[in-house]
Amino acid sequence: MVQTEKLYEGKAKILYSTADPQILLTVYKDDATAFNAQKKGQIKGKGEINCTIAAALFQFLEKAGIPTHYIDCPQKNQMRVKAVTIIPLEVVVRNIAAGSLCRQTGLPEGQILPKPLVEYYLKDDALGDPLLTRDRLLLLNLASPEQLATIEEITLKINQQLQEFFKLCQITLVDFKLEFGFDSQQQILLADEISPDTCRLWDSTETDPQARVMDKDRFRKDLGQVESAYQTVQQRVLAAISNLSTINSD
Ligand code: TMP
Repeated sequence: MVQTEKLYEGKAKILYSTADPQILLTVYKDDATAFNAQKKGQIKGKGEINCTIAAALFQFLEKAGIPTHYIDCPQKNQMRVKAVTIIPLEVVVRNIAAGSLCRQTGLPEGQILPKPLVEYYLKDDALGDPLLTRDRLLLLNLASPEQLATIEEITLKINQQLQEFFKLCQITLVDFKLEFGFDSQQQILLADEISPDTCRLWDSTETDPQARVMDKDRFRKDLGQVESAYQTVQQRVLAAISNLSTINSD
């Protein structure tokens, strides 16, 4: 893959331009950060694992009719994506109370929510990615009311699809973060990544609150066995994809 200019280096990925202005190359890194990069480390093999998981999930969602930026993976830790203008929003969906929802509301961790909760955070590290109200989001012109309705509709559809998919992996999808972008036709595409870095994933075969954690919370909370948890998620995701394709080709 001919890389040209390095366009941007984020905390977990590097973005390069390619010979085609409509296509970008994302290189997934082993670097891990938490708490707005106050905590830094490495998760060995994470770049390849997250790229592989994200590619599998993007392809699964595309089949379910959700437009994503995914094109293909020239290497295990590299993804070619459609160039989009990222909307500076972190769209978080929660099915079960955990993380900042518990810290900020007092809800007990593990409480099943009556319906999926969709939240919007401003993607701005300098401001600490604050939680937005709908009116603040519109005030900042981050999206029009129509675009916001589309984002919410796609987000809930993704949640439904991913919840069902992760059930096949014996994993509970607690919550996750999505990012969207506009392509050259102003179509809204799912962008960034979906991986154990951006989701809370609990092993549904485990009841112990620490043993069940299969995502970046193992790194955030120093729970140990981070690499093996990421590897297990990858194995289960690839096995479920392979089972689905066998069923679909029967
Ligand atoms: P939170 O409970 O810390 O608000 O996180 C909610 C979800 O969003 C969780 O699955 C982790 C994910 N997330 C990110 O992907 N990036 C972030 O910067 C943060 C804070 C959370």
